[in-house]
Amino acid sequence: MAGKFSGKTVLVTGSAGGLGRAYAEAFAREGAHLVLADLKLDGLDESKALVERAGGSASVHRVDLGVEEDILAFAAVVLALHDSLDVLINNAGMHAGEIQRGFFGLGMAKWQQFFAVNTLGPVLLAEALRPALAKAKGLIINKSSMASYTPATAYGITKAALNVFTNAMAMQFGADEIRCVGIAPGLMQTEAARGGVADDTWERLKGMQSVRRQGTAEDIANLGVFLASDEGSFVNNQTILCDGGNQMRGFRF
Ligand SMILES: NC(=O)c1ccc[n+]([C@@H]2O[C@H](COP(=O)([O-])OP(=O)(O)OC[C@H]3O[C@@H](n4cnc5c(N)ncnc54)[C@H](O)[C@@H]3O)[C@@H](O)[C@H]2O)c1
Repeated sequence: MAGKFSGKTVLVTGSAGGLGRAYAEAFAREGAHLVLADLKLDGLDESKALVERAGGSASVHRVDLGVEEDILAFAAVVLALHDSLDVLINNAGMHAGEIQRGFFGLGMAKWQQFFAVNTLGPVLLAEALRPALAKAKGLIINKSSMASYTPATAYGITKAALNVFTNAMAMQFGADEIRCVGIAPGLMQTEAARGGVADDTWERLKGMQSVRRQGTAEDIANLGVFLASDEGSFVNNQTILCDGGNQMRGFRF
């Protein structure tokens, strides 16, 4: 199908549902080939079907992005399939449960797991895929969060660290004309986000936005498509909040 991303390859991690699936569908509508990666094969198969319905094509890969050997093996497969990669979206992340409950009493093993998935996985994957990103003069999008700006939980801290990496990566990868940006969503309606937040907290957080409507997965996917398109090609080295103005009023979880 002809579109802005016809002939281009876009890799989305954490694409078994939620925001990752929304990116996949949005790029598919523009004719892209998608490389979809997640822990959950069932969800990936559903995403592939939706991509094909939207006019794109996809391959699916089960990978644990918190495990270095898995990341390297996955990257080797991607490089064997694609010598050129236009967009890498590091979207996979842990965001529910203990990672959202402050940051005391977690112990070293949990901290290491949280940082492995949310912060270091994106960096190692980008490093391993650098030859293909360089060939395309591609774009890396790291998935941050509004929680990274007032980090009161382990989650916010892992995402704040990822923001720092976004700047460092823009600098390092820039030598190959690869851009690196972050997208920091506010409160977006996904099954996972909605399920992890009590109704009253959800309404309170939404009430802090100056844009009063519910943020959607498509709001985030549209921003990703813009940043990856020719129209967004002068944006680099930034993490962009897309939160309906939540931070303006002092977001607190
Ligand atoms: N929805 C929101 O309101 C919101 C707000 C800010 C940031 N985010 C971030 O956006 C991303 C997607 O969020 P979502 O709401 O779509 O949630 P989601 O749970 O639907 O998506 C996260 C995906 O990452 C995958 N994943 C988790 N650990 C993995 C691992 N080790 N290896 C491979 N895959 C793994 C999960 O299986 C899941 O499919 C996350 O990074 C999240 O922190 C979401």
